[in-house]
Amino acid sequence: MKSTAIANANIALVKYWGKKDKKLMLPQNSSISMTLDGLNTITTVEFDKKYDKDIFVLNDQELRENKEFEKVVKHLDLIRKISGTREKAKVVSKNNFPTAAGLASSASGFAALSLAGAQAAGIDLDLKELSKLARRGSGSATRSCQGGFVEWQKGEKEDGSDSYAVQIAKPEHWPEFRMITTIVSTVTKKVSSRAGMAQTVETCPMYKAWLDTVNEDLKKVKRGILEKDFTLVGKTTESNCLKMHATMITTQPAIVYWMPATLEIIHAILAWREKGLECYFTIDAGPQVKVICLEKDVSELEKRLQAVEGVKKTIVCKPGEEPKLINEHLF
Ligand code: PMV
Repeated sequence: MKSTAIANANIALVKYWGKKDKKLMLPQNSSISMTLDGLNTITTVEFDKKYDKDIFVLNDQELRENKEFEKVVKHLDLIRKISGTREKAKVVSKNNFPTAAGLASSASGFAALSLAGAQAAGIDLDLKELSKLARRGSGSATRSCQGGFVEWQKGEKEDGSDSYAVQIAKPEHWPEFRMITTIVSTVTKKVSSRAGMAQTVETCPMYKAWLDTVNEDLKKVKRGILEKDFTLVGKTTESNCLKMHATMITTQPAIVYWMPATLEIIHAILAWREKGLECYFTIDAGPQVKVICLEKDVSELEKRLQAVEGVKKTIVCKPGEEPKLINEHLF
């Protein structure tokens, strides 16, 4: 059977950085994100006996024997195990934004693959079960399985059965909330988030401080979302991001995801905020800066961001929906 799904990327306001269990993809800490309307992956999966091996085509290019291909095959194996099918699959996937540059393409990618793959294999999963399946492909994909504002609860159980995504608020709860993604580089990053976080857990002397303070950030951001307190969400998001980057920078060897344009934007935002334009930044495992603001300030901020040296593009996103099945297949 053939199925197609669309899933949105998400950007964390309180980050996930570090695993407790690499096989089950269990995080050291819970995290909170916003699902992004408009940054999406569309994936079609077909299981059929006519395929003698798995095939994966990403953005019109067939991938073979590289890491991405292996991750997809591993995920298909998991779906085969759950559903009992033994057939190989063809997977065709398209991102409408740059892949692997710190824009969470793995999040939308594994959320879409999980939904389309499960459906194509004949299994119906609710969003909670879907998020547990997506988690096995990429941690942040867990959160792309819910819409709006989302918490990935790390869970306590060793088997991972209580580590899944829970919606904090629907997209309609805070329709004025915006995230402006600035693209400063589309070069594939040197250190993947998977390798980077493993290295951080193993070698960073600051990592304990990260774990000791993240629960407070989670509480503040959750309260800020529920009460629509933009200042509380913004301040906490920015400082949480800086704490995560402090752990990256202080691993052995150091991991520095920032580029000159990343710093240009950080300084610009600090200066604009001082003069009364309320906006905050967050950065993931890559050089792009995501700016959070309210709808009323979007056009002014876009104009200013586009004038910063090194900014190639800006993309404005509002809170987006959970993954969905669609009828238009990619092959
Ligand atoms: O799940 P991954 O491998 O995409 O890791 C995500 C890590 C960060 O983007 C840096 C933080 C996060 O919570 O999304």
